[in-house]
Amino acid sequence: MISTNVDPAGRVAASLGVLHAGQHPSGGYVACPTYPTYHYAWLRDGAFCAYALGLHGAHGSAAAFHEFVTRTLLRYQGLFEAVTTPGAEGVPVAQMPPARFTLTGHPEPGQSPGSGQPVDQAPWPNFQLDGYGTWVWALAQHARHDHPLTTEQRHAVALVSRYLQVAGAWNCYDCWEENPRWRHTSTLGAVIAGLAAAAELIEDAAAGAHAQDLRDLLLNEHVRAGTFVKHTGTDGVDASLLWLATPFAVISADDPIVRRTVARIIDELTGPSGGLRRYVGDTFYGGGEWVLLTAWLGTHMAAIGDLDGAGQRLDWVESMFTAEGQLPEQITEHPQAPDMVAPWVMRWGPVATPLLWSHAMHLVLVRFLRDARNLR
Ligand code: BGC
Repeated sequence: MISTNVDPAGRVAASLGVLHAGQHPSGGYVACPTYPTYHYAWLRDGAFCAYALGLHGAHGSAAAFHEFVTRTLLRYQGLFEAVTTPGAEGVPVAQMPPARFTLTGHPEPGQSPGSGQPVDQAPWPNFQLDGYGTWVWALAQHARHDHPLTTEQRHAVALVSRYLQVAGAWNCYDCWEENPRWRHTSTLGAVIAGLAAAAELIEDAAAGAHAQDLRDLLLNEHVRAGTFVKHTGTDGVDASLLWLATPFAVISADDPIVRRTVARIIDELTGPSGGLRRYVGDTFYGGGEWVLLTAWLGTHMAAIGDLDGAGQRLDWVESMFTAEGQLPEQITEHPQAPDMVAPWVMRWGPVATPLLWSHAMHLVLVRFLRDARNLR
């Protein structure tokens, strides 16, 4: 069945509107304007927002984001150098470059790097490598649209490249801010994509060689019984494994390991309403179906020519728009852990809506599906 996708133009305009409205004058994108815990600019969320906007021709917004990140990273250059200076191994987790910044490009209050907080006592995890890889990857996508790098951007890419060459395979919090004691497969994929992008952007041969070594590591240590796994030390999968093929292209979408992994993700993580969960055992707001991940699966399906599958995921995503034209982070109608919905609502409020990253992935899916249909 080919999806009809009622009112696609209206939904696209709504998603574009949410992303533009969520961009601070500094260029940073707020993760969610109405959810106090998410009043920060994450490298991960923002990089995908910039990518999505670029796919829809909004290059000015993407450029402002990349300028914001460049300024912010160069301002805190010392954090990177503390990790990359020879002999500086063992930098405490709380002093690693953070995953998110305030909207004006500073470490968040009370959790500034340098506070020396031990990992287990940190109020909110902030050491994640994937956002740095994703940012350089997204900057490379932007640069391809006739936006050559500025001198400052080249410096920032070099800084991040050196950082990822040193720390890229270290254990860190995963993209969901969990499991700090493992190396995460999708994180490694983002790091590889970032290093490959650095090789392209600033002719950084060492980054290219590191990307190749990490790809070998990915295939040697992150595959069990023929599928990629969520992290070292588990046989389980995670929907973020989709990143490896789409859009990072660290591994070809045709690779048998990717095909088996995607089949497992669909089989094990599709919820009753047709949306995708993060992983089995997720308890955040009960572990429901995530809009951005369902869009991700649809994007991957569009990329491999499964237009029906992609259209169905787009229908699901578009059915999650509120009357105000907003998409939530997840829907909690079918939780894996029903007892864990209310405690999170009590703690942080209702599910984050609108989540900019959900809108970004909606836009990415729309673009991939349109392109795939045009190829037919
Ligand atoms: C998610 C992150 C995300 C952040 C902001 C967290 O709950 O785990 O992946 O970057 O929210 O959207």
